[in-house]
Amino acid sequence: MSSTSLTYLEGLARNYAIRAVMSDREGNYADAITYYRRAIEVLEKIIQMYPDHSLNNIYRQWIGEYRRRVAELEGLLGRVKVPASGGGQDSLDDIDSFFKVVSDSPINFSKVANMDEVKNSIRESIIYPSKRPDLFPLGWPRGILLFGPPGCGKTYIAAAVAGEVNGYFVSVDAASIMSKWLGEAEKRVARLFSKARELARSGTPVIIFIDEVDSLFAPYSSEVGGEARVRNQFLKEMDGLDSKFSPKLLLFIVAATNKPWRLDEAFIRRFQKRIYIPLPSRETRLELLRMYTKSLKLDPGVSLEKLADILEGYSSSDVVEIVMAAHLRTVRELFEKSGGQGEPRPITMEDFEEVLKYRKPSINRDLLKAYEMWYEKYKAL
Ligand SMILES: Nc1ncnc2c1ncn2[C@@H]1O[C@H](COP(=O)(O)OP(=O)(O)O)[C@@H](O)[C@H]1O
Ligand SMILES: [Mg+2]
Repeated sequence: MSSTSLTYLEGLARNYAIRAVMSDREGNYADAITYYRRAIEVLEKIIQMYPDHSLNNIYRQWIGEYRRRVAELEGLLGRVKVPASGGGQDSLDDIDSFFKVVSDSPINFSKVANMDEVKNSIRESIIYPSKRPDLFPLGWPRGILLFGPPGCGKTYIAAAVAGEVNGYFVSVDAASIMSKWLGEAEKRVARLFSKARELARSGTPVIIFIDEVDSLFAPYSSEVGGEARVRNQFLKEMDGLDSKFSPKLLLFIVAATNKPWRLDEAFIRRFQKRIYIPLPSRETRLELLRMYTKSLKLDPGVSLEKLADILEGYSSSDVVEIVMAAHLRTVRELFEKSGGQGEPRPITMEDFEEVLKYRKPSINRDLLKAYEMWYEKYKAL
């Protein structure tokens, strides 16, 4: 039994590690840090639980390397600065903590596999208006809602928008609004918007990205009705952005959710543009496979076309994880055979087949149906 959980933990650590390295390579440093940390945590756990395990020395080396890389990346991220503005320091100090402005996003649309419809939709509602506002005398949508099953690229695409628009991209985690700002949440929402308006008034586009926006609707435990106040403040701020009142303002609120049905109608109405990010199509799966195997060695027998067929029903995140897991098999073998000396063998079709034995699609049909029904209902609102 204990060897099962050791195998499990090792698999977990490897998954995190590969994920970290891939995010790192993509320039997605925040994710890389998170995954390196998780890998470290699991490796430490292994060493602690199985002190006699033969690979512990290697794991210690890895922990050291990951720690070093985390420190480096933190240094890099620390340099992404909040741009100076006329705003005065008083209200800025505590806003800094959630006002993460990304000025050079490492991701842009060229790193987003396929998904042309989604890209076009975003181009028309955000990118073109922010580049040529003069071409949009009737205004542009201020609220854009991305919704769809988990792991299909909502957060990823939003980060790519940051790389496409030459402006400020403010990433706000809705859950952290609710937990960290107890009692003050609605004031913070107001300040977030006022700061964003101030930046936008200088003529620079500003995108506020609110990930997991449904958590604004989750009741928080220690304050009765707090979420209603936050939500109302939010609605008020959104109304203030209406193009009737501020026709030229290049301020966009992009929100993402896996649970659109948690949002109420008043809220949904403020988001004039609703974009469905569905499960990846065959084309997208193929492109994802190409993208994520590009830096790996593949056996000539591997058919990405065939894999794209087999992976019907899997999310983008599943596809990426399957590639990583197949690669891990070769890395694991290298460590078992030669203690990590030399290069891993090429990944074979069999590696993929083995991985797929244990991985079923993470999203089921009923859930997909729920998104489609929701979309049907609110498409024409
Ligand atoms: N179109 C895409 N192109 C490249 N990678 C993608 C794409 N969609 C998803 N991914 C990968 O899948 C991972 C999960 O996507 P994510 O944006 O976090 O999903 P969501 O926010 O919808 O839950 C991303 O970190 C990225 O590595
Ligand atoms: Mg997400």
